[in-house]
Amino acid sequence: MRVKLAGLELVNPVIAASGTFGYGIEFEEIVSLERLGAIVTKGVSLEPMAGHASPRLVQTAAGMLNAIGLQNVGVEEFIEHKLPPMKRYPRCKVIVNVFGYTVSEYVGVIERLNDAEGIAAYELNVSCPNVHAGGMAFGADAGSLEYLVGRAKTAASRPLIVKLTPNVTSIAHMARVAADSGADALSVANTFLAMAIDAEERKPRLSNVTGGLSGPAIKPIALRLVWEASRAVKIPVVGMGGIVTPADAVEFLLAGATAIQVGTASFADPRATERLAKGLESWCRSHDVAKVSSLTGALEVAGAREHGNEKPGTRDSGLRD
Ligand SMILES: Cc1cc2nc3c(=O)[nH]c(=O)nc-3n(C[C@H](O)[C@H](O)[C@H](O)COP(=O)(O)O)c2cc1C
Repeated sequence: MRVKLAGLELVNPVIAASGTFGYGIEFEEIVSLERLGAIVTKGVSLEPMAGHASPRLVQTAAGMLNAIGLQNVGVEEFIEHKLPPMKRYPRCKVIVNVFGYTVSEYVGVIERLNDAEGIAAYELNVSCPNVHAGGMAFGADAGSLEYLVGRAKTAASRPLIVKLTPNVTSIAHMARVAADSGADALSVANTFLAMAIDAEERKPRLSNVTGGLSGPAIKPIALRLVWEASRAVKIPVVGMGGIVTPADAVEFLLAGATAIQVGTASFADPRATERLAKGLESWCRSHDVAKVSSLTGALEVAGAREHGNEKPGTRDSGLRD
């Protein structure tokens, strides 16, 4: 069940997704943390943040909408109180999700984390609004993404995983920009911008009006993004978006993921991550798969050229001058 990811060796490819698993340690009495390949912490910023006012979560058809507002304890409290107890679970790698509203904030968090022990890698959340670029997400603008990833990579003393936003026109392009700027791996993807409305009240259901959609509702789109991103770059891709069952996880591996993350499923079943780690192992055994890593990118596509195998721009778009 072992997989290699950006220089890390994971006991299996199942990772708890950022924002759905606290800082890891909160789950120690619910999940056997040693059974997970890794956990990704809630996004950590330079200063503590209270997040948005309630309501911050809304259930949707086959999914969930959240606008937590990146509430977190801040990097100092994280290093002092949240990180040390995770040393009790050395097999489970700790990946710290990092964010900021300026490039120097991101770099500041990374530099502070470099001094701490017990961290395997950083995951850069590039879905945050860039205050110096009119609030557009870093990951939605190729120039901002290139600059941020380059600066983060220079600052980081550990592997850098860049978590892409799905709210872009071409994930393949953004994947290439992140890889060329120094990313060691990609996470694909964050939540989809969405909203929910209460017709009776004529009001938005989230205090922030818009939020991020996750869960089974996004799975087919997320699979397509993983497929496109993994074919665009040579670095490993971590796939996520609506994974609930072992078969869901296998689908993401076949689409090109080296490892997978489990997010919203932990809200419905707090043991979902451990259940998936066990379930994926059983799936491999019952399908005579000796190494889970052999599933990565093993999708069999008939007539692959018609399915986007050609180089960009070679397909006739039908547009004429
Ligand atoms: C309540 C909630 C909080 C989240 N917080 C973060 C975060 O702090 N940083 C981040 O990169 N992604 C965050 N995410 C996104 C998830 O890590 C994941 O990319 C997304 O939910 C898709 O996976 P899923 O469908 O399995 O949940 C959050 C998701 C949810 C539902």
